[in-house]
Amino acid sequence: MFFIKTFNKISNNGLNCFSRENFEIASEINRADALLLRSHKLAESDLNEGLKAIARAGAGVNNIPVQRCSERGVVVFNTPGANANAVKEIILAGLLLGARDLVGGLQFVKSMSGLNEAEMHTQAEQGKKQFSGCELHGKTLGVVGLGAIGAQVANMALELGMRVIGYDPALSVESAWRLSSRVEKAENLASLLNKSDFVTLHVPAIEATKGMISNDAIKQFQEGAILLNFARETIVDLAAVTAALNTGALKKYITDFPAPELIGRDDTLIFPHLGASTQEAEDNCATMAANQLIDFLMNGNIKNS
Ligand code: MLT
Repeated sequence: MFFIKTFNKISNNGLNCFSRENFEIASEINRADALLLRSHKLAESDLNEGLKAIARAGAGVNNIPVQRCSERGVVVFNTPGANANAVKEIILAGLLLGARDLVGGLQFVKSMSGLNEAEMHTQAEQGKKQFSGCELHGKTLGVVGLGAIGAQVANMALELGMRVIGYDPALSVESAWRLSSRVEKAENLASLLNKSDFVTLHVPAIEATKGMISNDAIKQFQEGAILLNFARETIVDLAAVTAALNTGALKKYITDFPAPELIGRDDTLIFPHLGASTQEAEDNCATMAANQLIDFLMNGNIKNS
């Protein structure tokens, strides 16, 4: 769906393009004027002589050799905001899964198979106590990174009755406008971390954010805080996070990035990078990326929106 829409959009504009069906990346990539991709990791050697532009159907561009593109004059687009609603909604799920042991409760009921009605009733009474959680209302959410996604997450959390603290050393004017005035701005990361019951990360994977959630940062968290990382794996020092989970300094780690050291833990919930995987987000990203490339290739315009 994602690909076909994009493909039609581009080919209807008279541009030569290859669909996934007739596109062998190794052989055809050398003839491309532009590339439109989602998660495929491009190597520097994939940048052919005539390449003019690359569009990433998504927010992050860490699968593209951006530095090399700049040196070569290849324009790189991303699709800011196009999947923000999908990510906002998965953060809502993440917050609820952090606040209440809904997964434990579901598994508990699954294990009731074979019991009769009376036995189930007795078990359910037990489960009611065992899986009691807390409410989001009245809790504090720290939002690290207040771009298109972070701003939507912050505004949503206010609607849930949460206190919201945001931190973004590079807050753009555009994002500031999108943000409710009720979002408190933290001066630095530490002051956000030590006030938050839940912390959610929405910064890009760049050198400045690598290992941002380090051993030192972990020391700033409130005891028993819950960390959500649906941004990128490199932002978090996994050794520091697992150590904090082991001591109970962190209560739960909820993430979109599977890693061997996290598998099998009860205090960790891991998704296979599902944040932007909704039909709507995929269509939005594909359409925005296709329009950017068409506008650039046909009219020379560079518009990253
Ligand atoms: C993003 O950077 O927006 C996501 O990685 C998109 C995706 O899941 O492809």
